[in-house]
Amino acid sequence: MKNTSKLIVALDLSTPEEALSYLDETGDLLPFVKIGPGLFFQGGKALLKEIMARGHRVFLDLKLHDIPNTVALGVRALSELGLWALTLHTCGGVPMMEAAVREKGEMLLWGVTVLTSLDDAQWGEVHPLSPMDKALEARARAAERACLDGLVCSPRDLGTVRRAASLMTVVPGIRPSCRGDDQARTAGPREAVAAGADYLVVGRPLILAHDRRRAAQEILMEIEEGLSCRS
Ligand code: C5P
Repeated sequence: MKNTSKLIVALDLSTPEEALSYLDETGDLLPFVKIGPGLFFQGGKALLKEIMARGHRVFLDLKLHDIPNTVALGVRALSELGLWALTLHTCGGVPMMEAAVREKGEMLLWGVTVLTSLDDAQWGEVHPLSPMDKALEARARAAERACLDGLVCSPRDLGTVRRAASLMTVVPGIRPSCRGDDQARTAGPREAVAAGADYLVVGRPLILAHDRRRAAQEILMEIEEGLSCRS
């Protein structure tokens, strides 16, 4: 494999049928697939198994956040499925993350630092008097202490997160060209990879594209360009 930065498609489609049809069209270009709560609640384990049987690595993005015992039970229930990765919220604290690590088996556990949809105003509303940068640093360090396998952060937060912890980074909030939606802290694929992202997570720019194969190819090309900026 040429280098380490890779594209994960966020399969945020409305039904399992639409998701499988998207993979029929583009699956050969996209080995890494992210499934969120919408599809998981509909298709359950059967859908995950179907996607894995097609040769994809599946990342289940459930962003668990609860008391340690409850999170550990959730992780244990998923640990035997053959999933590639699962997410939990780092703000759940070190004991919660450690409890999850004890149950994860072969699956990778990635910690969400701060949601990429939160801008400064929204952050301030729910975390008054606490700068986002400090929270990013503290959460990244806590995840490393708990021995998680990676961190999820916005492309704009890569510098802060990579200074605080040496875990691999998984980066949503990627926008190839300007578009208005619920993502606040975004960057282009080239920029994110050049800044050190190990994996990029891209949903709507891929799945809602008019020409879906071309959209995937263009982002893959931008990733290659970003990698060449690193060296
Ligand atoms: O469509 P879009 O490219 O915005 O999709 C980004 C995906 O990454 C969504 O599935 C979202 O749930 C996920 N995600 C995120 N921000 C995080 C963690 C995950 O946008 N901090």
